[in-house]
Amino acid sequence: MIATDFEEELKRNILGDRVFKRNGEQTFDRSFIPEKLPHRDDILRKLASDLKIIFKEDKAVNLALRGEGGFGKTAIARFAQKKLAKVAAELGITFDSRYYTCFQFRTLGTMLRDYLPSNYFISGKGFSISEMLTFLVQNLQRENKKLLFVIDEIQNLKPEDVMRILSVNEEFKSGTDGKEYFSTILIARSADWDALMAAEPRIAQRLHSTIALPKYDFEQMVDIFAFRRDLAIKEGVLSDENVELIAEMSETGNVYYGIEVMHHAGKLAEQQDASEILPEMIRNAAKYVSTEFREPILKDLRTHELLVLLSIARVLKHKSQRNISYATTKEAFEEYKVVCEELGNCDARTHVMTAFRKYLRKLNQSHLIHERIKNISTRGRRAEIHMLDYPADFVEQKVLEVLKSTR
Ligand SMILES: Nc1ncnc2c1ncn2[C@@H]1O[C@H](COP(=O)(O)OP(=O)(O)O)[C@@H](O)[C@H]1O
Ligand SMILES: [Mg+2]
Repeated sequence: MIATDFEEELKRNILGDRVFKRNGEQTFDRSFIPEKLPHRDDILRKLASDLKIIFKEDKAVNLALRGEGGFGKTAIARFAQKKLAKVAAELGITFDSRYYTCFQFRTLGTMLRDYLPSNYFISGKGFSISEMLTFLVQNLQRENKKLLFVIDEIQNLKPEDVMRILSVNEEFKSGTDGKEYFSTILIARSADWDALMAAEPRIAQRLHSTIALPKYDFEQMVDIFAFRRDLAIKEGVLSDENVELIAEMSETGNVYYGIEVMHHAGKLAEQQDASEILPEMIRNAAKYVSTEFREPILKDLRTHELLVLLSIARVLKHKSQRNISYATTKEAFEEYKVVCEELGNCDARTHVMTAFRKYLRKLNQSHLIHERIKNISTRGRRAEIHMLDYPADFVEQKVLEVLKSTR
């Protein structure tokens, strides 16, 4: 293609977009917060009544949000966060909030070391958690500032850390006025909450309320997808019937999945220069989306976690030929040492099992692998590593891409 042709092509792409509205595609990003959340009125009402305490009673609240993937937990928390800031500004209340996902911020310490320097011109380095919390609470009191942390994917935190977060107000009572300044919304999937509570039962007592997001029914999904279509896609491009098709395909209640399908189908239409999104494009898009990692997990993993994931994928691929579906810890560890020499630029002799197990635990928490203990009648127990959601081959390829691109 000669240069001027490419310029024409670009211009045509920018001006003649037949599928997406101007700034439409960015509404498909997971970080986009829509102006309304249809069919979450009950939850929003509950949230409003729980959160008002922060401003009205000068008390802190700790709320738990639970529900399956794609039910809108993150969206509703960020929505509430945004609205709280707006209302606080209108009422002249000093308020600040932060969103932390524990895929990136894996301890309370890392959150504090992020928050404090950007607000109080101190570096968190060299301070203990207690010192940082003391400093934080004293300053909040001095400024009479209410602070809300929205902490997402908390299955990545240690139960002690969750307990610590929930105890801030009690542990660091400031002054005698009884006022509290530090509130949280904690988010995880239902099963992850259950595991957390099983590991540390006192967590339940520290929560002011637990809000469970129910699954959207079919009609509600249709409605939501139509709303999201109208934000992103030009009129007449995606019919109501096809919105229903997308809702049917998202039967698990994962709105994120349907939105991804819609986005990819739109891109297919664009590539084919079509002015309508057709059912076959939607089905094709689904094929693509279902083999995509649905969470932005990989890029947040550390190098050695990626290397462990890669080694498991390789063992599984290999064993699949013998019709065996799991890897043992030992097999994965041996492969990990090979992978490290190959890609990690490190000496495998220095690797120890304890560190390896830590990486495994991390992958397990991120739902990339599933560890299972199996009882075997003759030989006791065996730890099995499974990969349920993605083909090993695909995982291998994706991990290699990430390793190449970012490190
Ligand atoms: N009621 C709703 N209206 C509009 N969009 C929604 C609604 N519920 C969920 N979504 C969208 O679905 C996607 C998945 O929601 P998300 O909050 O990321 O789910 P979760 O955190 O529970 O896995 C996001 O893009 C979100 O904006
Ligand atoms: Mg989420």
